[in-house]
Amino acid sequence: MHAMTILILLPERDATDFSLLLAARNPNLDIRTWPDVGDINDIEYVIVWNHPAGELKKYPNLKVIASFGAGVDHIFKDPDLPANVTITRLVDDSLTQQMSEYVAGVILNHRLHLTTYREFQAAALWSPKHARSGNTVCLLGLGKIGLSVAAYLNRLGFTIRGWSQSPKDIENVKTFHGEQSLSDAVGNADYIVCLLPLTTETENILDKDLFRKVKKGAYLINVGRGGHLNEEDLMDSLYHGQLDGACLDVFKTEPLPDDHAFWRHPNIHLTPHTASVTNLEKAASQIYENYQNMNNNKPLLNRVDPSKGY
Ligand code: GLV
Repeated sequence: MHAMTILILLPERDATDFSLLLAARNPNLDIRTWPDVGDINDIEYVIVWNHPAGELKKYPNLKVIASFGAGVDHIFKDPDLPANVTITRLVDDSLTQQMSEYVAGVILNHRLHLTTYREFQAAALWSPKHARSGNTVCLLGLGKIGLSVAAYLNRLGFTIRGWSQSPKDIENVKTFHGEQSLSDAVGNADYIVCLLPLTTETENILDKDLFRKVKKGAYLINVGRGGHLNEEDLMDSLYHGQLDGACLDVFKTEPLPDDHAFWRHPNIHLTPHTASVTNLEKAASQIYENYQNMNNNKPLLNRVDPSKGY
């Protein structure tokens, strides 16, 4: 019988729970947890998040690299990635639903001044304000998550514009594509939400050139990757009032260093990379299904295109 080996390579977490969930799907699986790899020749399928660069090249029979999240930039940043290995990512309704709720929550919080009232409360200040009227949201990134966020915000009554690299036709979304149309896409928006994959094309896409084109007083939400944002350009844009504020869930360095200016900035609201977190049950099911697909020579779900990097 074919050896049934899966390697879990998640250096930043205790993988015990996840390993048990995989084992529950098939008790015959030989689940190894890095760095206790055993015989490297056994490893055909590996689950990774932020693996050490060069590590994946050590497995001569590796066929599949499965990302433990929606993003795969953590895989492609390894300059020694083995060639001819299939790369997959997680796509599930838990990840999309969490992101939709997060983005909607942040927008409504801003719109209704809820955080401001909490500050007023500390000073026993009774000072009613009108809710903001801005109703247009521009989503940068129209993949599975972008589509779900668009539909969710649509149901709440927002007008949605969306930008992506390739052309898309989406009901109730005014779509734009390609670099030239980026300024048209963001131009009229009250809220700009980055949901893009991080690639060489999208790195630092949230920079002064983009901020110059947004409507004065727009609000930025970055739930993509820290690498999408030029941090100094954001600080300048907030200082000059071009952007009213920003909510950031992802950072160039995570955890965000204690002395980073973002922590204390009055117009930056930050969360610790929690907008959408991998659900272990869903991840175990999807990863095991793809493992079976590999063994049965069936097409894998949620394959990534290495030439695009997402
Ligand atoms: C989280 O950031 C993910 O990519 O799943």
